Amino acid sequence: MDNNLAELNCNILPATIEKWLRETDLDKLQQLWREADRTREKYIGRDIYLRGLIEISNHCVRRCAYCGINWERSNLERYRLNEGEIMEAVARAIDMECGTVVIQAGEDYGLAREFISYIIHRIKDSTSLAVALSLGERPMEDLLAWKQAGADRYFLRFETSDDGLYKVIHPSLKVGESPRQRLQLLCDLREMGYAIGSGIMVGLPGQSYASVAQDIALFRTLDLDMIGVGPYIRSMDTALGTGSLVIKDLGANQVDADELMTYKVIALARIVCPDANITSTTALATINRVAGRRLGLQRGANVFMPNVTPMEYRDSYEIYPRKKSDDTMDDIRSDMELMGRRINGGHGSRKKRSI
Ligand code: 5AD
Repeated sequence: MDNNLAELNCNILPATIEKWLRETDLDKLQQLWREADRTREKYIGRDIYLRGLIEISNHCVRRCAYCGINWERSNLERYRLNEGEIMEAVARAIDMECGTVVIQAGEDYGLAREFISYIIHRIKDSTSLAVALSLGERPMEDLLAWKQAGADRYFLRFETSDDGLYKVIHPSLKVGESPRQRLQLLCDLREMGYAIGSGIMVGLPGQSYASVAQDIALFRTLDLDMIGVGPYIRSMDTALGTGSLVIKDLGANQVDADELMTYKVIALARIVCPDANITSTTALATINRVAGRRLGLQRGANVFMPNVTPMEYRDSYEIYPRKKSDDTMDDIRSDMELMGRRINGGHGSRKKRSI
């Protein structure tokens, strides 16, 4: 394999990305990590931004074959936070030096448009935080109302750009719903004035190297402001977890759902999208609880999202098993020291750089 570092620039072709995804030589990969870290240093600097994650509801109308809070799962206690609980979580985020809160939930229509608008207003009126939303594929009227209420950003992962795979793992709610709905929604969100974030799961059954290379190229085409990628983690009580959904084995073309592959995707995303905010994700920290967060931040990422959901609900937001949600300020600070980086308590909105 003639993986040439000179090919590593933001106009990198899908074929070159694929070669790097297939790279197993650890010396070569060291070069990839170094290039990603250098790019992060050049375009973003040394600062790390914390976004406090508030999981406000684990109800969901979707039947995603990978996700542990899908509608069909019956043995899960469902919850929805009230206003007081949400505002306490917001206060925790401020204590943890977060410049942003992320309001996340399953796609839950029990969360009324007006309630979310009211919460956004309350946060914006009483704090200087940026507000990011991650509430699924809601109707345009909801998304517009929330923008008007003051929300700054919206996260919606497209999960995989392979239409065939997406269709089976993310069944539509309505006949005729396009598998491309999430991509269209991301464009609509941008039009509305949101900064947009997206990403994929790495190593989904049936996900090929070529399709992950396309995903990474798509990050750039979409001109994403924020990127989040994590390993796929098998979740029992899901169609993929129990094996009731059978996906054709791709053999040598199947992408691994492991730590190394996740670092490759993070590093390549950084090189392809040099000025994006890239998260070292919870799923990554879940499969390497000791060093996952730090290594993500040293191989291209510049954002971390500590969980600030009230303790008593954290186990119920079980999108996959053993999800890490116990990060403390001491842990985060000791990582910063190890890396020689520092927390920036500001919004950390993307500053577009000429590249
Ligand atoms: N493994 C890893 N990530 C998952 N997500 C959902 N289920 C899983 C899983 N089993 C991710 C999806 C979703 C985000 C909120 O969590 O990418 O968009």
